[in-house]
Formats: sequence, C-alpha cells, structure tokens
Amino acid sequence: MAKKNNVILIGFMGSGKTTVGIRLSYRMRRIFEDTDKLIEKKQQKEIKEIFATEGEDFFRKLETQMLLELEETVKDRIISVGGGTPVKEENREILKRLGTVVYLRIRPETVYERLKNDTTRPLLQGEDPKGKICSLMESRKDAYECCADYILDVDELSIEEILQEITSKVGEE
Ligand code: S3P
Repeated sequence: MAKKNNVILIGFMGSGKTTVGIRLSYRMRRIFEDTDKLIEKKQQKEIKEIFATEGEDFFRKLETQMLLELEETVKDRIISVGGGTPVKEENREILKRLGTVVYLRIRPETVYERLKNDTTRPLLQGEDPKGKICSLMESRKDAYECCADYILDVDELSIEEILQEITSKVGEE
C-alpha cells in the first residue's frame, strides 16, 4: 500500500512529540493528531485511568487499533504517538505504512528533568523514576531506531531548530 504522506513523531516520553507536533502542524498547514488524545477521547478516560483499571496490555491493544484506524482514515497529517507505540513490531509496520517517521531522540537525564514532577505517565510513577527512565529507554532504543526514517537528537535543540530540521528533511522527499 502506498504511503499516506503523514509525518509521524515517535520518541520517549518527554521528548516533545506533542509540542513539536502542534507547532509543526501550524508550520506545514496540516491537521495534527495525537494517538494518546484520540484514545482518551474514544475511551472517555485518561491514559492513567486506563492503565489503572484495564491494565497496560489493554492500553497496548487500543494503541494498535488506533493506528489501524488512522491508516484507514487519514493522510497528509502530523501524527504524534505514545512513547511505547513503536515497541510492538506490528505497530512499527503500521507506522511505516502511515508515512515518514521522525524519531525525537533524547537523553535520559533530559527526560528526568522534564518529567520529574509529572503525574500523568503511569510507567514513571513510584520509586526510582530515573532508573525506570534509563531501563525503559535502553529496552526501546533499537525499536525506535529501526522504525525511524530520520533521527533528531533534540536535547540541545530549540523548538525552532527542531521544526526547521524536520521541514527541511520532509520537504526534500
Ligand atoms: C507511554 C507513553 C505515554 C502514554 C502512556 C505510555 C510509554 O505517551 O502513551 O503513558 O509507554 O512510553 P507520551 O510518550 O506522549 O508521554
């Protein structure tokens, strides 16, 4: 199946997918979609509530369903997905079919600084958030990298620089 010409942002929690996605959608005059927000709307529940009541496996099924739904229904959009989405091989295949995948790569220390007071990410709550960030990131590294058409190291970049990098790369295609 031909690519749907979407730009998809992947990366760890706190890498800026949503912020970058919204700004990029203005810049490129495209509609923005955020799979976490779409899932919350459909389920009428916040992600942390879905994790607490139905569990992570159920959430992962919803993620795959949402990707398949987007594949059927959208093109020419900017799409941001949850940090864990590319972990499943099935999801990586759908992401590639959906469009150009841009990986916002970030260091664990930067994630910790950005999210140390966050209460919305169930996977980072409780003891030793720093350790959780490092081990999750290590376990996901290869999945992110092999799914990506482009990798951007975002730690030292301003939002403007990130937007310029992405538009110059995607515009070249
Ligand atoms: C998750 C990332 C979150 C959200 C859920 C699980 C993950 O999205 O999908 O809490 O497994 O990394 P963000 O990456 O937008 O925070």
